[in-house]
Amino acid sequence: MTDVSSKGPEPGDDRAVLTTRQGHPVYDNQNQRTVGARGPATLENYQFLEKISHFDRERIPERVVHARGALSYGYFEAYGAWGEEPIATYTRAKLFSEKGKRTDVAVRFSSVIGGRDSAETARDPRGFAVKFYTEDGNWDLVGNNLAVFFIRDAIKFPDVIHSLKPDPVTFRQEPNRIFDFMSQTPETMHMLMNLFSPRGIPADYRHMQGFGVNTYRWVNAAGESVLVKYHWIPSQGVRSMTDEDAANIQAYELGHATKDLYEAIENGDYPEWELRVQMMADGEHPELDFDPLDDTKTWPENDFPAKPVGRMVLNRNVENQFAENEQIAFGTGVLVDGLEFSDDKMLVGRTFSYSDTQRYRVGPNYLQLPVNQPRTRVGTNQRDGQMEYSVDHVPGTNPHVNYEPSIHGGLREAEAPQTDDVGPEISGRLTRRRIPLTQDYKQAGQRYLLMEDWERDDLVANFVTLLGQCERDVQERMVWHFFLVEDELGERVGEGLGIKASDVTHLEPLQSQTLSEEDQQRLANLG
Ligand code: HEM
Repeated sequence: MTDVSSKGPEPGDDRAVLTTRQGHPVYDNQNQRTVGARGPATLENYQFLEKISHFDRERIPERVVHARGALSYGYFEAYGAWGEEPIATYTRAKLFSEKGKRTDVAVRFSSVIGGRDSAETARDPRGFAVKFYTEDGNWDLVGNNLAVFFIRDAIKFPDVIHSLKPDPVTFRQEPNRIFDFMSQTPETMHMLMNLFSPRGIPADYRHMQGFGVNTYRWVNAAGESVLVKYHWIPSQGVRSMTDEDAANIQAYELGHATKDLYEAIENGDYPEWELRVQMMADGEHPELDFDPLDDTKTWPENDFPAKPVGRMVLNRNVENQFAENEQIAFGTGVLVDGLEFSDDKMLVGRTFSYSDTQRYRVGPNYLQLPVNQPRTRVGTNQRDGQMEYSVDHVPGTNPHVNYEPSIHGGLREAEAPQTDDVGPEISGRLTRRRIPLTQDYKQAGQRYLLMEDWERDDLVANFVTLLGQCERDVQERMVWHFFLVEDELGERVGEGLGIKASDVTHLEPLQSQTLSEEDQQRLANLG
């Protein structure tokens, strides 16, 4: 019998030798140390304890949303101008300034609601998060594949997500909970038109659009600002799936979108997107029938054309899923000079939430990890904390000085940009009020009318199937909303559920909504 405990590498075996994390060679990785061949085991068994206790800690909390995703790398190449007009007229952000200028990117696509190993065929928005490693530090554009969102105020984010996540008792995604929440939150209608249409299940990650969704600002060298919305348009085209297509794939593959992206890049078939930007003068817009800071709205492209500013190519896969895909951290506050926030009420909430969760999920030093590090020199006086890996002490500065100001050779402040004052002056009373111009139904109705027949059929069938699993009061309220979106939608979904217009006329508008004149007219017609 071979004595495995003394088995070392065979002669000529030049593989690297297994060690513990302490650098001790491992002579036997098959048997823990025991008293005699049949035990008991002992606690001085360092090698075994190190191995098993590290394993016990292998998982970090998954992202509370967007847990399942795929990461790849590539570059962004700027166009520099629209015809004769330099993009620098509107933003001083360097990555856009020069034709052909390339910036490295990391892009993470994701689904939202399911856990880390969930099916990628789910009807769910898809995340489209891009980290630009610019010469001025990182810029994250954290978007989705659908142009609008469910809610317009960050305070409702935990509620909308709880309604979409599994039931805390049955652990099933319950339509009755989803539509209970949505039916009481009319601003969700536009998003629902998208999510329950075929767009709600993109065919894969390469064939989907991306949208910044929230409204941001661009600032030029003179400090003048414009409001902007970002769009990513895939050169591969846009493809979606019906429920039936999705079910067929899901029967044999949970990670089809990750696989598709990985294989395309491995095969040199690099996916590409064009970045386009819509612009609007910064300030009040009384002429519009929607609020440009409301992320449940799109900006009509006829009035606000989406102008191309560059293209992005993905040409490299990750080497390690955990180190890169799991630990990468995006946030809406990660902006570079020339790119700014707007007063969009979602943005400020998002901006707090991302770095807050990352300090918990990855750890307080998450920005020291290679995938999150900017490609510029970092010099902070932040010190210590769990998993501090390297003191970002800048060579040539005094290592004793980790504070500022100092006359003894510490870090000093950078020169401020020529102008730092952006946007209109704001004054107002502290209050808790919804925006005055909510217009919850109009764009939802336009979206419905713009669909092709088969898309409308699919939308109605999806609503009927899911609302068919809901209680009657939820069904009625949803049908009531659908009549306000577009009569035909109310009639068709109502018919599928056995609900007529006259069954919902007793419903009053919700306290949480303000009806426009057009909505009131539709309501009157219903009666
Ligand atoms: C991920 C919060 C709205 C796109 C996340 C995460 C949180 C979060 C906590 C997990 C981040 C992590 O663990 O690293 C919020 C809040 C929102 C909001 C509070 C509203 C107030 C949105 C909207 C979009 C969006 C409107 C689309 C424009 C994403 C994406 C990710 C993400 C793409 C995944 C990023 C990645 O791949 O790591 N969000 N979110 N979120 N969110 Fe949001």
